[in-house]
Amino acid sequence: MRLFIAINLSNDMKAALFDLQNDLYDRGVSGRYTTEENLHLTLAFIGEYPDAEPVLDAMSTVSFKPFELALDSMGRFGDLWWAGMKDSVPLTAVVRRIRRALAEHEIPFDRKRFSPHITLIRKASGELPGVHPKPASMTVETISLMRSDRGRNGMIYTELGTLEAER
Ligand code: 2AM
Repeated sequence: MRLFIAINLSNDMKAALFDLQNDLYDRGVSGRYTTEENLHLTLAFIGEYPDAEPVLDAMSTVSFKPFELALDSMGRFGDLWWAGMKDSVPLTAVVRRIRRALAEHEIPFDRKRFSPHITLIRKASGELPGVHPKPASMTVETISLMRSDRGRNGMIYTELGTLEAER
């Protein structure tokens, strides 16, 4: 199984990002657009791993309080275009705790520095226009363990379990 830990976005947040994608499409940007339902924020990428249970065990040792996440502007890693988040101390803190728990449970993960982004388009053409998402924010109360499978028409993401915020 190909696993990653992510925040699944609220409908409002996804709608704001979908509008932004449409804006880019109307401006003639081609590429592989992430479908609205697949828009997410990855916190840790595990990759191939045989069993979800040890990962859920590791996640269960982490606690966090609900926190706010707000869209910021767009950016790119080469031809991968993304929407960024406003700087968030609780987001960075929970990612650090999750990654530490994975390491303590000897679950391998991609140790590249966390750079919070929501992929909007892969293999995007041309230059990034000066467009911005509509203001949108959400309260994060759930962090999800996701499985990624290659479907006929793109990726299929399935939630295998969750870590819930403390009340
Ligand atoms: P990306 O959108 O920037 O490619 C599922 O593949 C999720 O895990 C995506 O959000 C992807 O980010 C992220 N991810 C992080 N590190 C990855 C890696 N080394 N390989 C594939 N996906 C990775």
